[in-house]
Amino acid sequence: MTNDIAKALTLLEADGVVGLPTETVYGLAARIDRPAGLRRIFSTKERPFFDPLIVHVASIPQARLLASEWPAQAQILAETFWPGPLTLIVPKSSAVDDVITSGLTAVGLRCPDHPVALELIRGAGVPLAAPSANKFGRTSPTTAEHVRAEFGTDVFVLDGGPSRVGIESTVLAIQPRGDRVVLSILRAGMITQEMISKALEEKNLPAIFDAVSDKRTAPGQMKHHYMPSVPLIWIEGSWTDEQVASEANRQLARMPDNVEGVKIRKPTDALSKPARLILPDDPALAARELYSDLRRLAETGADHLIYQHDPRHKGAAWDGILDRLEKATSLMLRRNPGIFA
Ligand code: TXA
Ligand code: MG
Repeated sequence: MTNDIAKALTLLEADGVVGLPTETVYGLAARIDRPAGLRRIFSTKERPFFDPLIVHVASIPQARLLASEWPAQAQILAETFWPGPLTLIVPKSSAVDDVITSGLTAVGLRCPDHPVALELIRGAGVPLAAPSANKFGRTSPTTAEHVRAEFGTDVFVLDGGPSRVGIESTVLAIQPRGDRVVLSILRAGMITQEMISKALEEKNLPAIFDAVSDKRTAPGQMKHHYMPSVPLIWIEGSWTDEQVASEANRQLARMPDNVEGVKIRKPTDALSKPARLILPDDPALAARELYSDLRRLAETGADHLIYQHDPRHKGAAWDGILDRLEKATSLMLRRNPGIFA
């Protein structure tokens, strides 16, 4: 065991929180048997208590102890995609504190594909609850440095290198309803609905997808999230930088300061210095670089970021990336290039 892991275990034991590297993004972890540590996650992140936490496990048997029901679909998906970027929401057992689930009867479980995360969970001997290690509503961290920039010296961070996947796990609700099991994707990610269906169909299990009708069972679906420190403007069609700046100055001034508890990035002075976010054509690469690019560009002295949507970047592999970008966006400017070009 390294000194850093030993230090992290001591901190967790003492109701502390620790920056945890995973393959998706860095988490802010506490032991699930330490209510004071769990509450510290919410206060450190300034996260509202209605948004539940994902519990990180080191194995399938450890996950099953936290579930009151474990449908065959959960078993097959865990065997297929764990360790990896898929969170399964299943009915919770009494071993899961209500603080973790925000009072919901289901819990989110995930086995991260990162040796440092797995070593820490095994060392702790209990699962670790961890949301992404950013202030509520802001861009998620994909390096230890990002976490330090977010929380300063208050939080000890285990450095596990840059996150390989780069955007958060796919969140899949698995709901037993009578003799059926209904699946709903609550958050898109790099594991797509198609991949999930294929894994189940190969084992002759039904893959019945349905949207969650009750909003309370799918919290954390705020309109804004992942926002960088300067406004991000999403454009479609042909716009000059000057046109973007003048339209953004006009429209942002009229927007509310706050939407669903997330402070909207608005300019203090007229916008004049853009930086452009360019995504690579390979979605795996685009996901990996997205958050670090957003942070890096926001620190170049630019007062706004422009993302020109490339219509070729579409399809299931892009859903998670475009979902994050849309939520990170302060303003969308669309027009038909055919008319204005
Ligand atoms: O990749 C990830 O999932 C990262 C790493 C650290 O594992 N974690 C992460 O956690 O993104 P967080 O808290 O930032 O996002 C978790 C999402 C939230 O939108 C939350 O509302 C949803 O999962 N969630 C968690 N537990 C849930 C539950 N019991 N029912 C419904 N949604 C849940
Ligand atoms: Mg998050």
